[in-house]
Amino acid sequence: METIELTVEQMEHRVRKIKEKLGDLLYIPAHHYQKDEVVPFADDVGDSLQLAQLAARNQTAEYIVFCGVHFMAETADILTLPHQKVILPSLEAGCSMADMANIKQTEKAWTHLTELFGDTILPLTYVNSTASIKAFVGSHGGSTLTSSNAKKVVAWAFTQKERILFLPDQHLGRNTSYDLGIPLDEMAVWDPIFDRLEYDGDIEKIKIILWKGHCGVHQNFTVENIKHIRKDPDMKIIVHPECSFEVVQASDDNGSTNKIITTIEHAPSGSKWAIGTESNLVNRLKKNHPDKQIVSLNPFPCNCSTMNRIQLKDLLYALEKLEEGEVINQITVDKEIADNAILSLERMLNIK
Ligand code: 13P
Ligand code: SF4
Repeated sequence: METIELTVEQMEHRVRKIKEKLGDLLYIPAHHYQKDEVVPFADDVGDSLQLAQLAARNQTAEYIVFCGVHFMAETADILTLPHQKVILPSLEAGCSMADMANIKQTEKAWTHLTELFGDTILPLTYVNSTASIKAFVGSHGGSTLTSSNAKKVVAWAFTQKERILFLPDQHLGRNTSYDLGIPLDEMAVWDPIFDRLEYDGDIEKIKIILWKGHCGVHQNFTVENIKHIRKDPDMKIIVHPECSFEVVQASDDNGSTNKIITTIEHAPSGSKWAIGTESNLVNRLKKNHPDKQIVSLNPFPCNCSTMNRIQLKDLLYALEKLEEGEVINQITVDKEIADNAILSLERMLNIK
């Protein structure tokens, strides 16, 4: 029977059967933003850091069917052994933020910036970036980071060099650096479209150069949303640090998807929360915590359309193909790129 003709229950049944049959040969990690129809079939659900750590640790699975976005599958491919195959159930599951920095732009920026600042800059990249950017960063002594370890990695970077080039999310870069005590007037923005540094003042003061990239989903949370929520003084607001500086400053707390989840888990019954992150996660938190009042900070749905590309039918199709002995949608990173990218990933994983 074609997958397309199956009911949801039949698809779920087949996924379970194939999982049972493949046993430890199959590992399904999923990001917290995945759809509810996919999450129950994951062996582990986590934030980007946890998923990278889990991929690095798993040496038994021959097939890693990654329910997340392309950069996460690339990271898993880099961190796993050569015989392990990473599969992305939908090749349309990209990340628009990762696509905001390509390697040509980065090399051009580096030439400009090193002409201006000499050998004083260390590049760092959010894991939400392509393998080529991770390789660039790795080969220049830098590290990847995620929203869970950003502070530690930025603090480490300043033990290495005077300045940081932070790719590709300006918001995570600004929010993290500010938390570490770097004032806004020591932060510049690199615009990769116009190849120019946006900064008013004496450039010698610059400590952080923020790549002008952002997440289209987190950009939807605004200070106006916060003003509206604050009409109820009992409401607490927690947002992801991919939100703008103004939104993060006006919130009560911010952190990775994992931090948002644990904060809500530990919150007292009856507490009220507005959450500024992707809708699948906010809706799941609402469902899992009926004793707490949870709303999205933005009343309109803020879905990550690329995370949502992976549907139950895509997962099933990838698994059915594996059952037939065919690997589809395999994500492989070119060896030369992987050899440099792993340097930046391992630096991150070793920063305690
Ligand atoms: P986390 O690392 O917090 O899971 O975030 C990943 C992501 O893509 C958020 O947009
Ligand atoms: Fe990328 Fe934003 Fe989607 Fe995260 S939420 S995967 S940063 S587009």
